[in-house]
Amino acid sequence: MPPTIAIDGPAASGKGTLSKRLAAHYGFAHLDTGSLYRAVGLSVLWAGGDPANPEMALAAALALTPESAILVHPGLRGDDAAQAASQVAAVPAVRAALLDFQHSFVAQPPGGKGSVLDGRDIGTVVCPDAPAKLFVTASMEVRAERRVKELRGAGQDVSLQTVLADMKARDERDSQRAVAPLKPAVDAFVLDTSVLDADQAFAAACAVVGAKIGPV
Ligand code: DC
Repeated sequence: MPPTIAIDGPAASGKGTLSKRLAAHYGFAHLDTGSLYRAVGLSVLWAGGDPANPEMALAAALALTPESAILVHPGLRGDDAAQAASQVAAVPAVRAALLDFQHSFVAQPPGGKGSVLDGRDIGTVVCPDAPAKLFVTASMEVRAERRVKELRGAGQDVSLQTVLADMKARDERDSQRAVAPLKPAVDAFVLDTSVLDADQAFAAACAVVGAKIGPV
């Protein structure tokens, strides 16, 4: 099995940026697993359904393939897709369907060298045997400020208060759900990026991952 680097953490912790950089550094394929849940949530919204409806959410999850155009749709990054993702993610059958998707990616990553997966349950459920695991986090305030900057950069007019409230709701749902809740794996290195910039976080991550899987 090609090696996998498992990266978990809450929204706007910096795990996405870090995962992409690690993937480029090691020449591994990157899978942003949040985009799978976002695609399922958005499909249900587009069909006029309720993302909390298990049947609709499961049908959308089963229809998702690596070639699905929705996986690269700009609408995936919106806050409605994020909230819908968090709702479909609490449906056990949806998680089971997306587990198959993720296991196929890990077994045969594009390029064949290895993979970096980022999400909420990679180190705990999807790849419990991954040789390197990071749990990337930051304070709620720092994360909300980062998300505001990102959304405003994308031309959206948002307030810090709204983003903070949405983030709290999502964190709570993601960490309290019965199946695969957001939590660090016992063998994960917890990397707090509250006072680190992207370069510092990358350097710290490389040191941890390099010690586990060796140099590039
Ligand atoms: O990382 P993100 O913000 O794109 O994730 C969107 C939602 O998907 C998140 O609120 C919870 C869910 N998710 C999950 O339950 N498990 C994952 N491995 C990835 C995301």
